[in-house]
Amino acid sequence: MPQWTRRDFLAASAVGAVTIDGGEAETKKTTSPFLEGNYAPIRKETTAGGLVVVGKLPAELDGMYVRNGPNPQFPPIGPYHWFDGDAMLHGVTIRDGKATYRSRYVRTEGFEEEKKAGKALYEGFMGLPDLKKMAAGKEGFKNTANTALVWYNGRLLALWEGGPPHAVEVPSLGTIGRFTFGGKLKHPCTAHPKIDPKTGEFVFFGYQPVKPYLQYSVADTKGVIVRTTPIDVPRPVMMHDFAITARHTVFLDLPVVFSFTGLFRGKMPFGYEPKHGARIGVLPRHGKGSEVKWFDVPPCYVFHTLNAYDSGDEVVLLACRMKAFPEEITPPDEYSDKQMKGIGSKLHRWRLNLKTGKVIEGAVDDLAADFPRIDDALMGRENRFGYLMALKMDALVKYDLTKNTRQRHELGKGRLGGEGVFVPKRASKGEDDGWLVTYVYDRTSRKSELIVVEARDFAAKPVARVLLPERVPFGFHGTWVQGSQLRGLGRETDRRQP
Ligand SMILES: [Fe+2]
Repeated sequence: MPQWTRRDFLAASAVGAVTIDGGEAETKKTTSPFLEGNYAPIRKETTAGGLVVVGKLPAELDGMYVRNGPNPQFPPIGPYHWFDGDAMLHGVTIRDGKATYRSRYVRTEGFEEEKKAGKALYEGFMGLPDLKKMAAGKEGFKNTANTALVWYNGRLLALWEGGPPHAVEVPSLGTIGRFTFGGKLKHPCTAHPKIDPKTGEFVFFGYQPVKPYLQYSVADTKGVIVRTTPIDVPRPVMMHDFAITARHTVFLDLPVVFSFTGLFRGKMPFGYEPKHGARIGVLPRHGKGSEVKWFDVPPCYVFHTLNAYDSGDEVVLLACRMKAFPEEITPPDEYSDKQMKGIGSKLHRWRLNLKTGKVIEGAVDDLAADFPRIDDALMGRENRFGYLMALKMDALVKYDLTKNTRQRHELGKGRLGGEGVFVPKRASKGEDDGWLVTYVYDRTSRKSELIVVEARDFAAKPVARVLLPERVPFGFHGTWVQGSQLRGLGRETDRRQP
């Protein structure tokens, strides 16, 4: 794929080559692969009940699958990247075998400003920040809230790693507003916070291009930050994810370094600089930043961790490892076989010995795959099963880490999926006793559906396919909100607290 430079973009804009789809159909003529095909935005918000179900929704499946992703409200004014679009949430509520679909933008401040102006005002992350806003102490980039979702403290949070989360009502998916832990949040909040399944603590970090480059916080179950500490990293690195164990927090100081020169060239503002080496840091959950024990590892990059856990003197980390970071991030389904084999992320294991300082690491598999998920009830504890999306997007993958085996759930010809979210059965008889849910896009029909896959019968056809009234553009991360959560907290109480 050719590099799309800032100059190219401006030239194309001037001659009117920039056409963005305004409706349900796909677009062909755009400026970015992330505005084409099933990456193209849907500008309409939809509510639709009585959806057609092929197969049968399990009677006990009760809750809402919500997935976040970019969906730009207006044509971009600078180079556009997948990471830039305004958040649109796509939710399917399931109860008594019936399903309802709802899509809503997250109405961030930037979204509302642009809506009022009737056009895009902010450039994306390959463009320039709004210096006037920065001078006024505000964010120079739009907090799009477009990356992930987490249920915390009786509310749904839409996350974006450059700023605070946004609280969202369920099941309406209406935006409540910024969630700042009662004004105590002093740093950006990763899109991948971890919630300890036992203590309910919300463990998170934020990185930024100015000092302190990395800050770490823990909040209790009531939405109160109990600890914030800077973590000493020598340069501003992009840290998309991290991991927790029952006792420790694991940081990834990997050599993708913020670069102002990239910013001014209309390129990614990060560059891969393996000469700096790479480190994995382990900190007791409530330790001070100065107590991090660092382990040198061969340079690599990790967007997403699967899990981590304590094992005797060791901390074991499982994550999707890229052996380098690409110069540009292209649509994963367009990777060539060579790219898949080369730079495509693969499930990898590091064993970090806290006593000896030694690291033993190795590949779990050679299949290019990412968007890893587990049963969230095992966050920070040893897990046997992990679920990934094949980078070709044509299959979901289930790993049995005890037997060291892999199973595939093929989505079918021309059908592309996303991150699979694990929903445990209420009377679960084991770690994998539940379903995997995700959206699938069919390139032939240009339609989308939600699939429900029985995790214990992984290779079989989905037990149910919920046909959706609108195309769901490819997106990032989702979550399952339980029925009890939908019907309990998470609505009126939210309005008072953020
Ligand atoms: Fe992510």
